[in-house]
Amino acid sequence: MTSQRPWKDSRIVLGVTGSIAAYKSIQVARDLTQLGAKVDVVLTKSAQYFAPPLSFEGVTGRPALTDLFSAEGAALHVRLGQDTDALCVAPATADFLSRAAQGRADDLICTTLLATQAPVVICPAMNSQMFAHTQVQANLDHLKSKLGYTIAGPTEGALAAGEADGPGRMIEPWQVVEHLGKALAGTSPLSGKQILVTAGPTREPVDPVRYIGNRSSGRMGYAIAQAAWRRGAEVYLVSGPSWMEPPVGVHLISVETALEMHDAVNHALPEMDVSVFAAAVTDFRPDNPDDEKLKREDTEGGFAVSFTGNPDVAGDTISRRKPGSVAVGFALETSDLIKNAEQKLIAKSFDLLVANDATDEESGFDVPTNRVTILSPERDPEELPLMLKTSVAEVIIDRICNRLADDL
Ligand code: CTP
Repeated sequence: MTSQRPWKDSRIVLGVTGSIAAYKSIQVARDLTQLGAKVDVVLTKSAQYFAPPLSFEGVTGRPALTDLFSAEGAALHVRLGQDTDALCVAPATADFLSRAAQGRADDLICTTLLATQAPVVICPAMNSQMFAHTQVQANLDHLKSKLGYTIAGPTEGALAAGEADGPGRMIEPWQVVEHLGKALAGTSPLSGKQILVTAGPTREPVDPVRYIGNRSSGRMGYAIAQAAWRRGAEVYLVSGPSWMEPPVGVHLISVETALEMHDAVNHALPEMDVSVFAAAVTDFRPDNPDDEKLKREDTEGGFAVSFTGNPDVAGDTISRRKPGSVAVGFALETSDLIKNAEQKLIAKSFDLLVANDATDEESGFDVPTNRVTILSPERDPEELPLMLKTSVAEVIIDRICNRLADDL
């Protein structure tokens, strides 16, 4: 399988300040290291009460840094600031926000901030009353609008000691990683573009508690939505029921049935620069779903359900596509992969079509990997090796970016 260390040439400074959420930063440091990044963790004095330097050294394999003046040399902050590709402070306390907003230079993380030109991501964590305080909000506003930092979170949810649950809780480690991914990606042809992605299965009711559907997990569409957001797009994810966590930063439009998906797409499509149809739409629905739960005694002798065809969401909405936009479809086939896929490419006026073989166990529904061939009207089919769906998503987004840049 292709490299799973996509950040292997990246350097990241992870600042950790004194909040109980510092325990989450150990996971952040680990995840970034697993992705291949070189992570320099800088802890404030108070952070060390919550998470010891040794924990970070254990997961990064690099010394954790605590002192502005150290044997490493007085210019450590300058070196860190200049060498890093992105800087993240997670958790960021109210005290840190105040010092950063003032441009203070009284510890290693604040001086490194002054010495860097790399993108900065700040993940606040504090009690919700403190977060709502006018001074904290003013500091955040300054960091965002004057210094151009990304402020990620906080979210709502239970705080450490079970206090009130307004905004204050630090975002989860995987969400911090996504924000850093976006910071590292910089600008791309997708920056500022609007993209719609359909994903997941649809469920077609038989009665109020039962449905027919399919085994789609939504993984492929969710990975595309996340990758598009990371490259700077405004993403609208129209999703059927899925157990997946909604991707960071996207507008999630949850639907249940094919008809609901059709309505949502029909409504949003005219504004979209890119549309990706990754949903496994259930092609038919029970004719007359029961209003009442079907009882066992009514069905014991067997019963018949008649079906009606569902609309072809991608095909029926072709005329709603914005002129010049890029449309991407998928084709899941059990035989004649390329021939059937080529027909769908033309019939549904796609610019790109991602074909995969449903009989391949490592590919298709409900598995984390995929082996796909990408078709376009202008080029020979491009066969990709077995890859994680997250990596396939990156390639699809690359091909979309090429088309947006007129590089067919
Ligand atoms: N699609 C859709 N609405 C449907 C069926 C499919 O939007 N009702 C989209 C899928 O999201 C995919 C493409 O059309 O991008 C092809 O889907 P696929 O299920 O492979 O093909 P179908 O058109 O349903 O044809 P068949 O089931 O006969 O292979």
